[in-house]
Amino acid sequence: RKGRFNRPAADVAQRYSESISFDRRLFRYDIAGSIAHAAALVEAGIINDEDFAKIEKGLREIEQEITAGVFQWDVQADDLHMNIEAALTKRIGAPGAKLHTARSRNDQIALDLRLYVKVEIVEAVVRLRALQDALLTLANQHVDLVMPAYTHLQRAQPMSFAHYLLAQIEAFDRDASRLGDCQRRVDVLPVGSGAVAGSTIVLNRESIAKRLGFAQLSQNSLDAVSDRDFVCEFLFCLAMIGLHLSRLSEDLIIWSTSEFGFVEFSDAFSSGSSLMPQKKNPDMAELTRGKTGRLYGNLVSILTTLKGLPSSYNRDLQEDKEALFDSVDTIRAALEVFATMLPELKVNAARMEAAANDPNLFATDVAEYLVKKGMPFREAHET
Ligand code: ARG
Repeated sequence: RKGRFNRPAADVAQRYSESISFDRRLFRYDIAGSIAHAAALVEAGIINDEDFAKIEKGLREIEQEITAGVFQWDVQADDLHMNIEAALTKRIGAPGAKLHTARSRNDQIALDLRLYVKVEIVEAVVRLRALQDALLTLANQHVDLVMPAYTHLQRAQPMSFAHYLLAQIEAFDRDASRLGDCQRRVDVLPVGSGAVAGSTIVLNRESIAKRLGFAQLSQNSLDAVSDRDFVCEFLFCLAMIGLHLSRLSEDLIIWSTSEFGFVEFSDAFSSGSSLMPQKKNPDMAELTRGKTGRLYGNLVSILTTLKGLPSSYNRDLQEDKEALFDSVDTIRAALEVFATMLPELKVNAARMEAAANDPNLFATDVAEYLVKKGMPFREAHET
């Protein structure tokens, strides 16, 4: 800063623009990216093996200190990238000051975010599978349990309770497959783009991609620093999981009322009322339905941030992170709650069967019986 400005940033400006309070969660990815970058600088002849060894060792120590919670974050250093670079240079001197050759925080943050999203996609799929397992176990226990299927929330036809549960598994399967599609577009290395139009120092991008485990290289540096499509896509995937959890929640909430009495949440996953002693409330399901609004909000937030931006990196892009982290945390927690809550769900078979015994539910079967005897369907329907 001191090479360009005569005054330090105003306190209020500093507080307004810092991102270290939230982007520090990307530290592992930032460090992995810097080590790969340093290796590429060796290949490009900018630093020697000795410099590289010092940089790697310094960065590994910093990583350990952050993990152990003893690293001193400096709010004055603005963001994660500056914090780590400053700490490294303080530690190892000159080689640390060479690390930022042929890169910018613009391609650095794009890299960190892509590495982070790649890991969180895998994590979300693992949690979706755990929830599907819980649903399948419950379905296996209730293959022969018959309940009404509803349309318009009116009794329609008889179906197995397992049939209902398997429908949920289908929706979560699409979510997992959607995350897989998204992963293909996240899995692109932006490094080498620099601030916007690359660098006169040419890095071996293939070897960086190999080291960091990227399947593809970005093809255009301007696009690579502009692009947050992958954040939007991932937030959409998470919003969709939220939507599915919310509809499941809504069914369970209705079915847990005295009016239906089909299911009962276990005590460990229910709340009482501070006033009415008899109450047992399905708060986990209600919170999940509620949190889905936040997931949509996070998606709309990043879409709106992006829509008016000129090409290239603009500081507005710093606003992508809190929404992203919030959706990741929300879905992690919701999937975990459902996977542990469902095995404890009490199913009231007698109530479901009594509701399914409504003779009206067989009206379609009777009409079809008449069709099989030769009556046109419209006539059978009327009869
Ligand atoms: N903290 C910034 C972000 O999260 C990093 C990139 C800053 N780049 C810059 N030229 N100011 O987007």
